[in-house]
Amino acid sequence: MVPAPIHPLDTKGRPIILVGLMGCGKTTVGKALSKRTGMPLLDTDAIIEEQIGKPIPQIFAEQGEAHFRALETALLRYLLYNPTPSPSIISTGGGIVVRPENRELLRKLGFTVWLNVSISALLTRTAKSTNRPLLQNADRRAVFERLDSERREFYKQAAHLWLEASRMDVNTVAVNVCNEAERFFAAFRN
Ligand code: S3P
Repeated sequence: MVPAPIHPLDTKGRPIILVGLMGCGKTTVGKALSKRTGMPLLDTDAIIEEQIGKPIPQIFAEQGEAHFRALETALLRYLLYNPTPSPSIISTGGGIVVRPENRELLRKLGFTVWLNVSISALLTRTAKSTNRPLLQNADRRAVFERLDSERREFYKQAAHLWLEASRMDVNTVAVNVCNEAERFFAAFRN
């Protein structure tokens, strides 16, 4: 039997979306939120891989990053105009905020949360990662420093909530997100 959620939320049919750099905890926090709220978890990377029938490194290698970004835009637009039957938690790819139209779509789609995590924590959490094309580089710290400076403003623009999550455990992050989501949706007009 599936246990009753600890924190059921009335999100007015809208999702809660997690954004942030690779390794910031979108998937882990997404799972904790899903368990807490009873809302199903979707992952934009996984949906794209399934749609295209190829893993992300292969999409990057064969069609290029720009093509992958266009797939992300198409998916966000689809989710906005075809809401899932029950509202979900959506974990996104770290670069989804790069396109201006995606930032706009993320703000319209639901309650968007930026998990802001220090570069040293990102390095630790991605140390064993082999499936991220942008991390196929000897100097991962330099990659994260560049991505952080390029994207920081974009995450801020896309997200309704900026959460400094470097030193928070997963459950504390999930509780914070639920409380803020409750406040956000109480004032939300469709
Ligand atoms: C990317 C992040 C990845 C994935 C792709 C590109 C990025 O997702 O979408 O490898 O540009 O930061 P995660 O953030 O889930 O690792």
